[in-house]
Amino acid sequence: MKPIPIVLDCDPGHDDALAMILAAHNPGINLLAITTVSGNGNISKVTQNALRVCALAKIKVPVAQGAGSALLGHTEAATDIHGESALDGATLPDPIFALEEMSGVDLIAKTVREHVEKVTLVATGPLTNIALFLKFYPELKSRINEIVFMGGSIDRGNRTPYAEFNIWMDPEAADVVIKSGLPLTMCGLNVSHQALVTKDIFAQLEKMQAPLADTVIGLLRFFASTYNEVFEMPDPPLHDPITVALLIDRSVVRTRRANVEIELNGKYTRGATVVDIYNRNGSPTNVDVAIQLDFDRFWSLILNAVEAAAKA
Ligand code: BDR
Ligand code: CA
Repeated sequence: MKPIPIVLDCDPGHDDALAMILAAHNPGINLLAITTVSGNGNISKVTQNALRVCALAKIKVPVAQGAGSALLGHTEAATDIHGESALDGATLPDPIFALEEMSGVDLIAKTVREHVEKVTLVATGPLTNIALFLKFYPELKSRINEIVFMGGSIDRGNRTPYAEFNIWMDPEAADVVIKSGLPLTMCGLNVSHQALVTKDIFAQLEKMQAPLADTVIGLLRFFASTYNEVFEMPDPPLHDPITVALLIDRSVVRTRRANVEIELNGKYTRGATVVDIYNRNGSPTNVDVAIQLDFDRFWSLILNAVEAAAKA
């Protein structure tokens, strides 16, 4: 099968870093570019992190810095989960190449315009860049194959009782994406909380006995400690790489077609994804919602990618 051309829009972030490694080190994906968005840390921190992960995992694609705040100006950082640097837990190498001079949104547009095939957009942070791209470059919409994003939940949230972090950060951007009419797959907390980094996964990473695997272990141990502190989850959920994994192998997740709306106004529920699983409202379906993860398939893709990156 021909590799799937993607642009990865991310806010690294521990799980974003693993999404980058999977996208770059699986032959089923043709990673064309990486763009960053303010989320887990401020935009300069997450952009530096993206460049450092590229250096660590020998990823050589154009990287551009995207939006520094949400469409309505909101910023915050997930230091409680990802630490001060947004990627605490290991020392990463210095960047080995420079950022593109154009903005993240312009790099998405350039990549989509110039690539011969339609491009898939994978978003593992707030949806600000994707919404701006759709607004500023409507003529390129037909060049998008689909959008796969990590965000939302069919259950409860993690940033507020009902809002997941990526959607909470920029609900208006999520609303633009949800209403785009493009093929959409949503990987929310309900599925990412099945992608746990268990003791056995740590053991398999240790068995690799490779410096890159040790760095990944350091990052994931930090992630495990904050998840345990904040959410009482000793095995942390590796949210973001599910988006890439499902493109490589659709059987990694089972999805269900549903109507999804973004709550923009709720006094307590702003940023919630309202997923009408049983179509009680009778509204047209607009999203393939990931429901069930195949744990073994998912982890075998991740572990193989880490091993490949370690040997690169
Ligand atoms: C999402 O928020 C971030 O903390 C993670 O990187 C992931 O994209 C999970 O809610
Ligand atoms: Ca993320």
